[in-house]
Amino acid sequence: MNYLVTGGAGFVGSAIVKKLLKQGHVLTVIDNLNTGYIENIPKDVLFIEGDFSKNETIKKLNNAKFDGIFHIGGQSSGEMSYEDPEYDLNTNTLSTLKLLQYCVKTECKTFIYASTMSVYGEKESQEKFNEQDETNPKSFYAVGKLASEKYLEIFSKQFGIDYVSLRYFNIYGPGQNLDNLKQGMVSIYLKQFLDDSFDKVIVKGDLNRFRDLIYIDDIVDITIESAQNNKFINKIINIGTGRKTTVNEMLTLIRKYTGSEKKIVIEEGTPGDQFGIYANNKLLLSIYNKPLLDFDIGLKKMIEWIREK
Ligand SMILES: NC(=O)c1ccc[n+]([C@@H]2O[C@H](COP(=O)([O-])OP(=O)(O)OC[C@H]3O[C@@H](n4cnc5c(N)ncnc54)[C@H](O)[C@@H]3O)[C@@H](O)[C@H]2O)c1
Repeated sequence: MNYLVTGGAGFVGSAIVKKLLKQGHVLTVIDNLNTGYIENIPKDVLFIEGDFSKNETIKKLNNAKFDGIFHIGGQSSGEMSYEDPEYDLNTNTLSTLKLLQYCVKTECKTFIYASTMSVYGEKESQEKFNEQDETNPKSFYAVGKLASEKYLEIFSKQFGIDYVSLRYFNIYGPGQNLDNLKQGMVSIYLKQFLDDSFDKVIVKGDLNRFRDLIYIDDIVDITIESAQNNKFINKIINIGTGRKTTVNEMLTLIRKYTGSEKKIVIEEGTPGDQFGIYANNKLLLSIYNKPLLDFDIGLKKMIEWIREK
């Protein structure tokens, strides 16, 4: 197959690219290297460096026909979306519209979208969310992602594009950008615990906050299968393990596996941060059969990867 992958220089996108190449597919990658790294782009893909929300970048695709588009790239931090809401809107929403228009023009019929659990926001006395639950975004980031989901639904109805909106929960694992201290709880804490230039570990917000942590290899397998398994078509799907881990539990396990005794300092939370939600993943489990890795095991693998680096 001939696929376009956006965000292929980033954490999730580059892992997807590697696996798709192993499967023998032909790939084009777009990335502006905003948070991604050129070293993540393998030589055997066609790489277009540029902002996918801009016409000049889309033009560089030369009307090439793709069997599917994996729109993985985006601005992935709620905190950053407050610092630059306009970049967030262009990157996470305008880009989706432009790529969908490209699909219509070039008759591409499959669009896989990296959405987020942030679209649910929060609701008092509810921790576990399913795909039918009300969405209530708390950050500009989440608003933009939800808007993209809506564009997909309309393009599907009007133009027959098959879409999958994958509401990723919190992804962690080897390959994660440890220098981005604004996205990814596990990587943020690991960086501070393991890097000697940090003399303490700063936690922004309550220790009882929690996340549904899903390992990168599971994300890659699910995302690729979603383009190849008809059961995923035209669905919004929670991509989480259905298990919750508190910040306190994360920190305790990190201490256990790193042996670090650094002091933990609690600071004020960041705007738009969710206290905690986790996935009702019944829909995912009804169409995807492989087991999802436990955090305990995934964390050890991630620490090994950091130490090897
Ligand atoms: N990591 C998570 O826990 C998580 C959770 C939910 C959803 N997501 C979504 O998954 C996707 C991938 O996240 P990630 O963790 O790999 O992030 P990442 O920052 O590592 O990767 C994103 C990539 O997109 C590129 N990019 C950003 N804006 C761009 C633009 N305007 N034009 C071209 N390229 C651009 C970046 O340079 C980067 O390589 C994002 O859309 C994110 O919102 C991630």
